Amino acid sequence: MATGEPILYLNGEYVTAATATVSVEDRGFLFADGCYEVTLVVEGSCLALDRHLARLQRGLGELRIDLDAMSLVPVHRELIERNALGGHRFSSVYVQVTRGVAPRSHAFPADTSPTVLVRAAPIAGPTTATLVGGTRAVTAPDQRWGRVDIKTTGLLPNVLAQQAAVEAGVEDVILHRDGVISEGSHTNVYGAVDGVIVTASADHRILAGVTRGIVLELAAAHGVRIEERNWTLDEMAAAEEVFMSSTTAGVRPIVQVDGQPVGQGTRGPVTELLQQLYGAFVDEQVGR
Ligand code: PDD
Repeated sequence: MATGEPILYLNGEYVTAATATVSVEDRGFLFADGCYEVTLVVEGSCLALDRHLARLQRGLGELRIDLDAMSLVPVHRELIERNALGGHRFSSVYVQVTRGVAPRSHAFPADTSPTVLVRAAPIAGPTTATLVGGTRAVTAPDQRWGRVDIKTTGLLPNVLAQQAAVEAGVEDVILHRDGVISEGSHTNVYGAVDGVIVTASADHRILAGVTRGIVLELAAAHGVRIEERNWTLDEMAAAEEVFMSSTTAGVRPIVQVDGQPVGQGTRGPVTELLQQLYGAFVDEQVGR
């Protein structure tokens, strides 16, 4: 039942956000020693929760944090119920798992149990303005570490890159390593080049987005050609379309990069097709 006050889950208990506290010795706070996950909730139903928890499980395995991610399925359901999120078109669930609380020392502490935080709240979700009109991006060097396939809470380079976009007066940033495009600060990035979808391979240089996985599967099933490979800023400058995807934003066109229009400077047909396919997928998954 909804109490009116946001309820979250912290280390096995459901508590109000106002009373939830985490130790100053939590390794998430001290070292960003943990993973997180963000799942979209549409009218009370989680979208692709199995994929999100599989990614979390993999990340926890890479960090050697011992937790069964599937144990969080009922927690997602409970928080949706307790926060009455069924009445909202879009919400999201945020999960953060850290190695736990211990005196500050770099190596793993002995006998520490993970800190587990799950919170759920309504979000604005994608608007027609951004889905149709698109957003503008700047490019910036990708200054992150070499294992960004793990969704860790160590997001400072992402924060600084997104801030650079804000200060440039645009909505998005596209990261590259020596001209090879990786992804956005919190999105995956694609181009339409001669009608083919081009995007970075899902290796250690990008986060394998859940939305990315779904969109590429839908595109392939629809007969659209896909190339997962290195692609460059030069290729992007010549692409017909550029677009992004993420859990909270869906698929959205990028209509301007570094002040130059992409293609005609408006949403293109490949982006629109993927939006339609993804929209139908979401509707089907949440039973609409
Ligand atoms: N970000 N790349 C990065 C670096 C991301 O942080 C995200 C997600 C994505 C897209 O992944 P997905 O389709 O699974 O959402 C790609 C989340 C939404 C965030 O940090 O809020």
